[in-house]
Amino acid sequence: MRSFVRYVLGVLVTVLILCAGITTLWGWAWGLGLLALFMGAVAARDAWKLQTLHHWLQEQQLSPGYQPGRTWEQVFGRLHSLERRIDENQARRQEAIERFQQVLTLLPSGIVILDQTHRILWCNPAAESHLQVHLEQDRGQSLPYLIRQTEFQNFLDRKPAPDHRCILHRRSQQDISLALQLIPYSAQERMLVTQDITQWERDEKVRRDFVANVSHELRTPLTVLGGFIETLQNSGPLPLATRERIFQTMETQTDRMRRLVEELLSLSRLESQTGVAPFTSIPLSALLSQMLQMASQLSQGQHTLDTQGHFDRRTLLGIEAELVSAFGNLVANAVRYTPPGGQITLSWREEGGEGVFSVQDTGIGISAEHIPRLTERFYRVDQARSRDTGGTGLGLSIVKQIALHHDLTLTIDSQPDKGSTFALRFPAHRLGLPENDPA
Ligand SMILES: Nc1ncnc2c1ncn2[C@@H]1O[C@H](COP(=O)(O)OP(=O)(O)OP(=O)(O)O)[C@@H](O)[C@H]1O
Ligand SMILES: [Mg+2]
Repeated sequence: MRSFVRYVLGVLVTVLILCAGITTLWGWAWGLGLLALFMGAVAARDAWKLQTLHHWLQEQQLSPGYQPGRTWEQVFGRLHSLERRIDENQARRQEAIERFQQVLTLLPSGIVILDQTHRILWCNPAAESHLQVHLEQDRGQSLPYLIRQTEFQNFLDRKPAPDHRCILHRRSQQDISLALQLIPYSAQERMLVTQDITQWERDEKVRRDFVANVSHELRTPLTVLGGFIETLQNSGPLPLATRERIFQTMETQTDRMRRLVEELLSLSRLESQTGVAPFTSIPLSALLSQMLQMASQLSQGQHTLDTQGHFDRRTLLGIEAELVSAFGNLVANAVRYTPPGGQITLSWREEGGEGVFSVQDTGIGISAEHIPRLTERFYRVDQARSRDTGGTGLGLSIVKQIALHHDLTLTIDSQPDKGSTFALRFPAHRLGLPENDPA
């Protein structure tokens, strides 16, 4: 600013000295004429600069042939840097808006901005899918008009508060459960947040059913044991045969509870495993002869047992204890659900680089509607029959977990009164080189 004053004073003093000199030499008329000429030139130059500035502000570019002067250069320079700063701020703001919109688009929670009369102002794609609305065509529509569920309308009519929530069950092509929250957003707007809790609700139900099933399974043997203890305490001396029968039943019930607890522990251990099972080599022939031995012990000579296939030199890659447990469960089921006189065949075949272990029986079989549910925990086709034979309904869920851990596929083929085939398919990477074969 000071340099500008100095510059103006310098120009004025120079012009006045020049005018005074001309006046002294040639008289007043020449002196005043020169002053007028100078003033006119300054006014014309400023008018031209002003026109250039006007053009710049309008078109955002300087007119061709523009020559910045000292004062005007400063003004233009300032304006130019101001413009740059505005441009930069605008770009930054635009970038932030775009980033924010992208985040809202990718958010798994739905967000709907509503006006005071519940009309849709904006919503993200998650909200579109949760509430089955389409922003393009439903913008400005009343949300309670689109979702005509009384509980939803009551929810919207209540005064919004941060802890204002509701659970909404939407029945459409796909049933979905939503947790809704209405948050006051501004004086005129409200934000509705939606969350898909369908899976969480399903998991909760599985957990509740599991606890109910375990309690139910334990209650029966505990009631029997409690009853016998009471009988032994309150009745006088009992005949030897009666006492033996009581102790035998108590032992059976205790065994049952122990097996249940062991199976639950083993299932929980299997379910908490992460990653794939290690690849330890297990000779298949040893595994199959162990299964055959187990089958003959359980069968007590009531069934015909045999094996099929070439497995002498094959090895499997996995955890031996887990494979013994999976194969053992299938073999035990075959014996348990095949009436005396039936046939049980353990077989191994290889096809397309994969190996299949199967247990085939000529037992009671299973009707088609039960097959998809057999691997659910505690699922039994015939509750009473399975319980009578000591089954807890956990065996096949254990097999399924072991199969998952080893990348095996469990297939079940069965026909009522004809028999069943349970097979475990081993992918190529779970088959070891035939024993003694050089790599
Ligand atoms: N080979 C089979 N033939 C007929 N039904 C079978 C066979 N294997 C399984 N099932 C049916 O599938 C149900 C579930 O089997 P799973 O092995 O899981 O339980 P379980 O045998 O009842 O009890 P456990 O936990 O002692 O094995 C059985 O209750 C039975 O109804
Ligand atoms: Mg079983």
